[in-house]
This record gives sequence, C-alpha cells and structure tokens, in this order.
Amino acid sequence: MERAFFITFEGGEGAGKSTLIKKVKEYLESAGEKVLSTFEPGDTKFGAKMREAVLHGEEKIPAETEFFLYLVDRSYHVSKMILPALEEGTIVLCDRFTDSSVAYQGAGRSFVPMERIEEMSNVAAKGLSPDLTFYLDIDPKEAFLRLTGKKDRLEREDISFHEKVRKGYLFLAEENPHRIKVIDAATSIEEVFAQTKEHLDSLLRGKRTKV
Ligand code: TMP
Repeated sequence: MERAFFITFEGGEGAGKSTLIKKVKEYLESAGEKVLSTFEPGDTKFGAKMREAVLHGEEKIPAETEFFLYLVDRSYHVSKMILPALEEGTIVLCDRFTDSSVAYQGAGRSFVPMERIEEMSNVAAKGLSPDLTFYLDIDPKEAFLRLTGKKDRLEREDISFHEKVRKGYLFLAEENPHRIKVIDAATSIEEVFAQTKEHLDSLLRGKRTKV
C-alpha cells in the first residue's frame, strides 16, 4: 500500500525545531501537499498523560520508567495518528521520534546499550521508520541560552547529559547518512530553512515509498 512521506525533526533543547517545522509545513502546503504536524511525547489525549508523567513533577524517575513512558506514547501515537494519516496520503512532520529515545535514553541515560533502545523503540513504532530526518545540531551551552520559562525534567539535567545526547545524535547521523541530515542550528532560521529545503526538494522529486 502506498503511503505519504514521514519526516522527523530531532535535536536538543532550544535547537529551534518548532519554528522550523512551521516553516516546512507552510512550504509543503504551498506546494499543494496535505500535511500533518505532530510531536512526541504527548500529541494525543492519551499521550498527554504520558507527557505529564515523564516531563513534569519534581522527583526523579527511574531511567527504565522514563523510557517505557516514551514507548507507550509512541505506540499509541503511531497506531492512532501517524499511520492513518500516512495511509490517506498526508505527509506527516513529527517533532521527535525513535532517534530521541536512542539519543536521550540510549546515549544520555546509557542504562542499556543503544541498540536495545533502538530495537524496542522500533517495536513501539510498529517498524515505521522516517523517510527523512533533520537533526538540528547546536552546542547545548549555546542552545540553553535560548530557553525561557520553567524547565521540565529533562531540561533540568546538567550540561554533560545534554552533551552525551548530542554525541548520540551525531553517532546516529553518521550511521544513517541517507536518512539523517545534520543541519547547523547555530544560525538564523532563514539559513536553517534553506539547508532543510534542499533535502526536502530532493525527497519530493523522488517517488513515494511503501509501508
Ligand atoms: P520537547 O517538547 O522540548 O521536545 O520535550 C520533550 C523532551 O522529551 C525532550 O527533553 C526530549 C525528551 N524525549 C526523550 O528523552 N525521549 C524520547 O523518546 C522523546 C520523544 C523525547
């Protein structure tokens, strides 16, 4: 069965994913595409409870509990929102997906090897893999200067945690050069969008893939 493209956006805190996703959505819609923009964790009524549990609250939670909460959110999100949209021909833009689990829980928490995190995340994702992923790369020290408001549980982790997450992402990008495009996010949104657009255009020129 034919399905539309699935595109994910990854990066550390304050990398500028949301602003970029808005621009990409506008761009694709102006090209006549149907587009759904969504995010993990928490873009379903059910998943919102997972988001609350995993990101808010003062006390620390075990690394395993944290990981499973992301997986519960993902499995529901994929089945109930992402796959149905893709199957009806809507391009899905997703702010974070399985690579977030590999970078944050795998490289950041490092309580089990990254490959196991990847395997289990893929089960939760029903084997769905993005056609294209933009990783917005920026030094966490610089990105944290952009953050405003009350910090969530992950944002309260120290800088060394976020440096490990960045290394995890860069490792993933090196392992998956065709799928993951590293975008320099330490620059203006116009420049970030220009870098992104090049890859989007070449994806759109290609053929739609199958589930
Ligand atoms: P965000 O709304 O700023 O993207 O916040 C989501 C947070 O959750 C962010 O700190 C990354 C983290 N996260 C994980 O640790 N693992 C995951 O699998 C996902 C989807 C997000």
